[in-house]
Parts: sequence; structure tokens; C-alpha cells
Amino acid sequence: MQYENLLIQEENGIITLTINREKALNALNMQTMRELGRFFREDAPQRPGLKGFILTGAGEKAFVAGADIKEFLGLGPGKGREMSQFGHEVFFAIERFPKPVVAAVNGFALGGGCELAMACHLRVATENARFGQPEVNLGIIPGYGGTQRLIQYIGKSKAMELLMTGDMIDANEAWRLGLANHVVPQGSELDKAKELIEKISAKGPVAIAKVIETVNAYFHTEQDGFASEVEAFGATTGTEDFKEGAAAFIEKRKAGFQGR
Ligand code: CAA
Repeated sequence: MQYENLLIQEENGIITLTINREKALNALNMQTMRELGRFFREDAPQRPGLKGFILTGAGEKAFVAGADIKEFLGLGPGKGREMSQFGHEVFFAIERFPKPVVAAVNGFALGGGCELAMACHLRVATENARFGQPEVNLGIIPGYGGTQRLIQYIGKSKAMELLMTGDMIDANEAWRLGLANHVVPQGSELDKAKELIEKISAKGPVAIAKVIETVNAYFHTEQDGFASEVEAFGATTGTEDFKEGAAAFIEKRKAGFQGR
């Protein structure tokens, strides 16, 4: 199958998926989201013999710097809800995939990028990695599960702070908080991710699939939270503040929010 924005390499039963939009810091435009969805919902399930998957970003600067803000113009409550709902479906397909999916976070993991890393089962971060949910700078909230999964990983208190300030944290802080599983020097992230997948692949495959299923089941009561994120994301995309926030990013200036 043809992919425009995903590089797909297979070696020793491990597929490395590289989001390949380096000039836009691998921002997740809709085409990339559709390709991720197609890969995890249609292609990968047909390859039961694989050991696992690594997700990473092209270049040395970013894993993924978020949803593509340049596609935000024209977004409103209806389309915003649709975008968020679709993102949830794609990221649930990753989170529920019965083989290990490891994010090799090789730089900025912001907004949708942090959300993508959190949908993976494990996260290997390079020393230059930065995590954050900066959506409030644009006058919106995270729409790809960030309000729910960040709490799951780091707890309500710190999640609330990061979601409200939009601050970034470095790799060591992400490790300390339990968001990153390992921190490694830049350039060794794929090796570390492969090492983890190799170790897991020596265990019983049914047991691994059941670990994934049951750990996810622990959070099943959070599903209402995901639904409320879809509604709230849609609502924030209908505000004047959002128009101003997105325009300010594109025009490289500070946003002047009016609160409406
Ligand atoms: N969308 C579209 N383009 C992006 C982008 C994004 N999320 N992030 C970076 N880019 C583009 C920049 O516009 C720039 O393009 P041009 O060269 O054409 O101007 C290029 O990538 C390089 O970026 P910068 O010049 O800004 O690089 P920097 O080193 O000065 O800053 C950064 C890096 C701090 C990551 C900064 O790019 C940034 O703040 N990016 C936006 C992060 C963000 O707000 N992410 C959340 C998006 S909303 C979201 O994800 C919603 C959701 O939950 C679904």
C-alpha cells in the first residue's frame, strides 16, 4: 500500500514507522492521520507474525510537533468534533494493538505528538526530547486524547499544570514523572526500542496481547472523559480565541486572546 507521509521499514520482524514531514516538524496533517489509521487498522492486523512496531519522527529535532496548525484555518465546532473523534479512533487502534508499539521520541513531542507518544505502549525518549500539551497557547484544548492519557500517566496534579500552562518538560522530567520509560542518548533510541520489542517477543504472544487488553481495561471508566474531550475540543475550535491563536502562530506573533 502507498503511503505519502509514513516511511515504513521492516527488519527482523519489527516495523519502524517514521513520520516523514521534517520541514513541518512532522506535524500530523489529516493525510498523515489517515495513513496512521490505515496502517494500524488495515495493514498491520494482516501481519500477525511481526514482533512489534516503532513510531518515530524524521530528522533530529522533532518526534511530532502536534496537529498541523496550518490546516486549522476553517476549523469550527462541527469539523473540530469530527477531527477529534477521528483522532481518537486512530489512537485507540494503536493503544489497543495486540503487539508492542514503542514510541522513539527523538525531539519535540507536543500536542498531538505527545498524544501519539502516549497512545503507544512504551516511550523511549532521547535526551533532547521535549513533551508538552501547548494547545492552550492556541486557545484550544488537546483533541487526540491528551486530557485523558496525560492524567493516566502522570496523575491529575501535574497533568492539570501542564495542560493549563502549556509548559514543556524535558526527557528526564518525563522519565521522573513516569511518562518516558527510558531516556537514551540521541541516535540510540531505535536500538533501545528494538531491544524492548525483542525482549517482549520472547514471551507468550497471547499473554502480551492480554496484558495490553487488561491494562487498557483498567481505564475503561475513562471513556466518558474521551467523549467530553471531543465535545470540548469542538467547542474551543468555535471560539474567536482559537482563530486568533492559530493566526498568531502562523504569523509568528503573540496571541491577543479576548475570552470569546
Ligand atoms: N503545525 C504546523 N506547522 C508546524 C507545527 C505544527 N504543529 N509546528 C512547527 N511547524 C512548522 C513551523 O511553522 C515552521 O514552518 P515554517 O518554516 O514554514 O515557518 C517549521 O515547522 C519549524 O518550526 P519553528 O520555526 O517554529 O521551529 P522552532 O524551533 O522555532 O520551534 C516549536 C519549535 C517549539 C516546536 C514550535 O514549532 C511550536 O511551538 N510548534 C507548535 C507546537 C504546538 O502548538 N503544537 C500543538 C498543535 S495543536 C494540537 O496538536 C491539537 C490536538 O491535540 C489535536
